[in-house]
Amino acid sequence: MTLDDPTVLADARAALRGATRIVFFTGAGMSADSGIPTFRDALTGLWERFDPALLASIDGFEADPALVWGWYEWRRQKVMQAQPNAGHRAIAAFAVQAKPRAVAVVTQNVDDLHERAGTSDAAEVVHLHGSILALRCFVCATPAGDALINAVPDEPEGGRRLTPPRCTACGGPMRPGVVWFGESLPPAAFDRATKLAQSADAFVVVGTSGVVEPAASLVRHARRHGATVIVIDPNESASTRDAHCWIAGSAAHALPLLLCD
Ligand code: OAD
Repeated sequence: MTLDDPTVLADARAALRGATRIVFFTGAGMSADSGIPTFRDALTGLWERFDPALLASIDGFEADPALVWGWYEWRRQKVMQAQPNAGHRAIAAFAVQAKPRAVAVVTQNVDDLHERAGTSDAAEVVHLHGSILALRCFVCATPAGDALINAVPDEPEGGRRLTPPRCTACGGPMRPGVVWFGESLPPAAFDRATKLAQSADAFVVVGTSGVVEPAASLVRHARRHGATVIVIDPNESASTRDAHCWIAGSAAHALPLLLCD
């Protein structure tokens, strides 16, 4: 089961060699090696330290927009300062080298590290939970320009209360372009991800605990439709239980071993 077990890696590499449609399904663990915290890891996970009901819901935003805006501003800074890690770069290189085979990335992450690694130049990247960099009006959904994304130096851990900027169209408060608890996923993204999962021969799951639906259902969907499911995660999770092959390592370490010749 571990990276020290050469048969696991050899089996996973063989499954990838034989596949013509390969999907990478990524979660917060994908970006952990870039310094962006996960949600549910013990001690370091965001939901261990912050309350999702206050910070990631419509009710929370209505109750205290400045608290929510400040927290997302802090997280945006972290994303903008982070760099793609060796795992992101391995997927990007694989997408080029695998052509004409079809490679796609379906991510739950709201950062842009797959894009900055170059993956979107060679493969489709589907964001299921939106983007922390794409702001829109809470009231009328008008998107905001990049001008609203300003670097706030020396943000304290967890951010500070900041009044959200106002929408130029209707004057409503701006909100982050992420999916909050209780909200539906963007339908086009979820439809596309479902089709990709359905037609995949290899479905490589990286760094997701597999507890947030409906995203997590894609792993079971891919498996039911015949994909070999390979999971990269240092810890056992709901995702590892659905795996044909579990590589117990970090994204930055295991992906280059799996994907590079
Ligand atoms: P979680 O925090 O729930 O799970 C992260 C997974 O990554 C765990 O299984 C960890 O063991 C694993 N992990 C930690 N470090 C890793 C590393 N270096 N390499 C590989 N894996 C590592 O994050 P998600 O499953 O992505 O929703 O969470 C799903 C959703 O819950 C998120 O998209 C977010 C959150 O609420 C929204 O923002 C809508």
